[in-house]
Amino acid sequence: MVVARAEGVWVEDVEGHRYLDMLAGYSALNFGHRHPELVAAAHRQLDRLTLTSRAFRNDRLAGFAEGLAELTGLDMTLPMNTGAEAVESGIKVARKWAYDVKGVAPGEATIVVAADNFHGRTTTIVGFSTDPVAREGFGPFTPGFRVVPYNDLAALEAAVDDTTAAVLIEPVQGEAGVIIPDDGYLAGVRELTRRTGTLFVADEIQSGLGRTGTTLAVDHESVLPDVLLLGKALGGGIVPVSAVVARRDVLGVLRPGEHGSTFGGDPLAAAVGPAVVDLLRTGEFQRRAAELGRVLDAGLAALVGRGVVAYRCRGLWAGVDVEPALGTGREVCERLMGEGLLVKDTHGSTIRLAPPLTITEDELEWALSVLAGVLG
Ligand SMILES: Cc1ncc(COP(=O)(O)O)c(C=O)c1O
Repeated sequence: MVVARAEGVWVEDVEGHRYLDMLAGYSALNFGHRHPELVAAAHRQLDRLTLTSRAFRNDRLAGFAEGLAELTGLDMTLPMNTGAEAVESGIKVARKWAYDVKGVAPGEATIVVAADNFHGRTTTIVGFSTDPVAREGFGPFTPGFRVVPYNDLAALEAAVDDTTAAVLIEPVQGEAGVIIPDDGYLAGVRELTRRTGTLFVADEIQSGLGRTGTTLAVDHESVLPDVLLLGKALGGGIVPVSAVVARRDVLGVLRPGEHGSTFGGDPLAAAVGPAVVDLLRTGEFQRRAAELGRVLDAGLAALVGRGVVAYRCRGLWAGVDVEPALGTGREVCERLMGEGLLVKDTHGSTIRLAPPLTITEDELEWALSVLAGVLG
């Protein structure tokens, strides 16, 4: 299937077949394909100014940073491009903070991460992945990371010590199969990191910006991390835009010349990013994700025992373990594609559903009926 055009939740291939997009660019298309307000913001900027490099300021960047501060409650932004760059930048910030503020001995800083994480594809990041497919063949890796089981506060407590700069986790593990931690885990991570003088770095690159029915997935436990990593939907499905958002006393450890990016925060990105923030400001998308998430949840519950072994759902985001006898996740996805539904496998027989938040209830019901037909 080769995609030629798309609008809203629908994509069309080169042969004119239409598909409902239930992957939404791994949540980069939370607002659907070519959302009119985002495309208009991009067009306006294309006609004025697209790139300055960060050697010079541009007149869009301050508004972008202000918008993110208002949205997140954290007052400083470092704009980057891809998610992996935001994670890499977050790691650099955490290490610098550990040396400059926490007083960790030079070269000794550690970062605690969770098993089954997915934070991107750079050599440092895959070095602390526990997925052999992501990791094997790419070493040697960057030292300084400790891996503990996800959703296990006791293991986290045992791994954090005086060298620990940060705990880096996904509030919901997307690529692992939409793994939702127990209630209290995120609050527990917040309490532990605060008590031990460690940064809480939340990778909200896939879980953030409306997907789970709240602006951020950490909002489900009313927790504010020290550092938020945003990406994907921040670029509105138009340009790669990511950001490290943090308190000034944390992000401020970076001094001029110590970090940079030719494209990060360029005028085009800094025009689309605030347009995304404007969409989220109304709360409409978060509400839709929460309400339609209940429809998705109920629809999946009805399929348990009918091709579905188990599922996890938060907002408009679900990981579905299909009956292994029905084939691999990949094979199930190909059958769904044949019926006009685009979804993506994660591991084994698990598929993930993450439609644009603009999907209507009728479209969602149709997707569920296709799923029932293929799995039943
Ligand atoms: C939680 C998380 N972090 C980071 C990334 C990496 O983002 P990118 O592909 O833009 O580098 C992803 C991508 O799937 C992700 O899901």
